[in-house]
Amino acid sequence: MRRGGGTRKERLLRAKLKKKMQDEENAPNGAASVTFEDILQMSDLSEQSLLENLRRRYEHELIYTYVGSILIAINPYKQLDSAYSERKMTEYYGKAMGMLPPHVFALADHAYTQLIQGGALDPANQSIIISGESGSGKTETTKIIMQYLARATSYRKTPQDAEEPLDATSGTVSRALGKLEERVLESNPLLESFGNAKTLRNDNSSRFGKFIEIQFDHHGKIVGAQILNFLLEKTRIVSQSLGERNYHIFYQLLAGADNTLRERLQLQTPYDYEYLRKSECFNIHSCDDAKEFATTKHCMTTIGITEERQGLVFELLAAVLHLGNLQFGMENDTCVAVGDDSANGIKLVASLLKVSEDALMQALLTRQLYVGGKVIVQQQNSEQVRDKRDALAKSIYSSLFLWLVSELNRTISRTQDKWGFIGVLDIYGFEKFEWNTFEQLCINYANEKLQRHFNQHMLEVEQNDYAKEGIDWKHIDFEDNQECLDLIESKVNGKPGIFISLDDNWRLKGEEANKKFVSNLHSCFGRVSSAHSSSKNKWYVHPKVDADLHFGIRHYAGEVIYDASGFNDKNNETLNDDMKELIRQSKSDWLRG
Ligand SMILES: Nc1ncnc2c1ncn2[C@@H]1O[C@H](COP(=O)(O)OP(=O)(O)OP(=O)(O)O)[C@@H](O)[C@H]1O
Ligand SMILES: [Mg+2]
Repeated sequence: MRRGGGTRKERLLRAKLKKKMQDEENAPNGAASVTFEDILQMSDLSEQSLLENLRRRYEHELIYTYVGSILIAINPYKQLDSAYSERKMTEYYGKAMGMLPPHVFALADHAYTQLIQGGALDPANQSIIISGESGSGKTETTKIIMQYLARATSYRKTPQDAEEPLDATSGTVSRALGKLEERVLESNPLLESFGNAKTLRNDNSSRFGKFIEIQFDHHGKIVGAQILNFLLEKTRIVSQSLGERNYHIFYQLLAGADNTLRERLQLQTPYDYEYLRKSECFNIHSCDDAKEFATTKHCMTTIGITEERQGLVFELLAAVLHLGNLQFGMENDTCVAVGDDSANGIKLVASLLKVSEDALMQALLTRQLYVGGKVIVQQQNSEQVRDKRDALAKSIYSSLFLWLVSELNRTISRTQDKWGFIGVLDIYGFEKFEWNTFEQLCINYANEKLQRHFNQHMLEVEQNDYAKEGIDWKHIDFEDNQECLDLIESKVNGKPGIFISLDDNWRLKGEEANKKFVSNLHSCFGRVSSAHSSSKNKWYVHPKVDADLHFGIRHYAGEVIYDASGFNDKNNETLNDDMKELIRQSKSDWLRG
């Protein structure tokens, strides 16, 4: 996260002074007296001493530390009582950077001050980039920044001084906020219900990326917000790793729906749904799904989604769950629905999607091919039918998510009144699991890009500035990850990198495509020869075992081995024409739209 405030020379001087004062203030506190608020104040810049400084501060609940223009935040994994109180906000309001101990409020305040510094002249738009591994606290920090900005703008009129802790996790806001600020803040729990899930690393992991642009008018007041979302993890809708969950909203609906809704949608428990039970994880410790459902509904109402529309949303969620329970098998070379309750399941899904049962079955069991101007109807085998079923479920849910974001934007974005903005980028963090697939590659690619941005703008620019200003500054060598990015996104010495190679194989089908893709990668970037273990490309890993479907990348945050099974299908994912036709036949204007 970036901060600024005067020239770097001034900042260094201010930091030195600050450090002296801090030492005096903290003297009785033992270890805190020898920690550095800004790592640039340290003379020993070895990794060990940097980590030691962070550790000591962390032990004293000092979770924030500056590194020049960057703010490091360490996840405290507990509520820090007064760290985010309203009194703390007033303390930081309008103070120049570096006057108070490092804090995310200081960073948010600095962004705000920078934005409005020119008065009603052109705004100096700001962006705060938050980066870190999954579970490191990016989303919580985003919410804290939004809370602060909502407050800070209200101070311009009515300063408050109450010791009222703000609950960043639930998005609770005090009554003093205006309707608009409230709506902006309430977009968070709503997005999280539909876009977050429990993973092995984080009980509330964001499975989509977002850039929230908080919009201000020329008085410096919040007038709205615009959400730009990136890549929702679709696979999760139909399968999850053991110990993980599907999106929170499914469990919320099953736990919190009242009897009328439960009956209308024929809802059961999470154990009764294929899409939820296979991962064997149903509850999140200290999370009450029924209560969260009430919060989700409240947020929907706040942003203006009517009860009737909410009903339609829940119908689609139920359709996804019931769809996953449709089972298929082969009978005399023909694929048919199987299972005791299959007839009822088909009827129910068809009614929730507002299509006829025949149309649903035809879309699932057959495929229409257009050959030489003629339509050929091809019967599908049970595996193909299951894939079509899953593709439909993924498409319904991801369209619902997109609709929700556009609905949020429709009600909270005020582009016409916008004078300037502060953007906050919160994407999914770097991931390294036992089993890593296409989603991890996309997520880690996004993080690799962000890392490059940090390298370029923080280290290179910073070092150049110090050199220009004649500050005695030891040059730091850092590992430039541009070559790793080239391997993923472009060509290396004329050889197609990972994404290009994947696209090149799109015509091949199934695992054949994935094997060809991996073998291409191995031959271009893998082992020099069978006698050597080193790779031709330093960022590429040629695994010793299961090398026909596995390859690895040495990312900035660690080496990750990817399983390429399913890569080609996921890369080409488009809803086939039969499914599009099915949706077109729906009697629901909303679904068709
Ligand atoms: N400042 C904080 N104060 C208290 N708890 C925190 C704070 N930051 C994070 N946490 C705790 O850590 C958990 C994980 O944080 P968060 O969801 O923000 O991680 P993330 O970086 O967004 O991860 P992902 O990339 O998986 O989305 C939170 O649910 C919360 O319990
Ligand atoms: Mg997150």
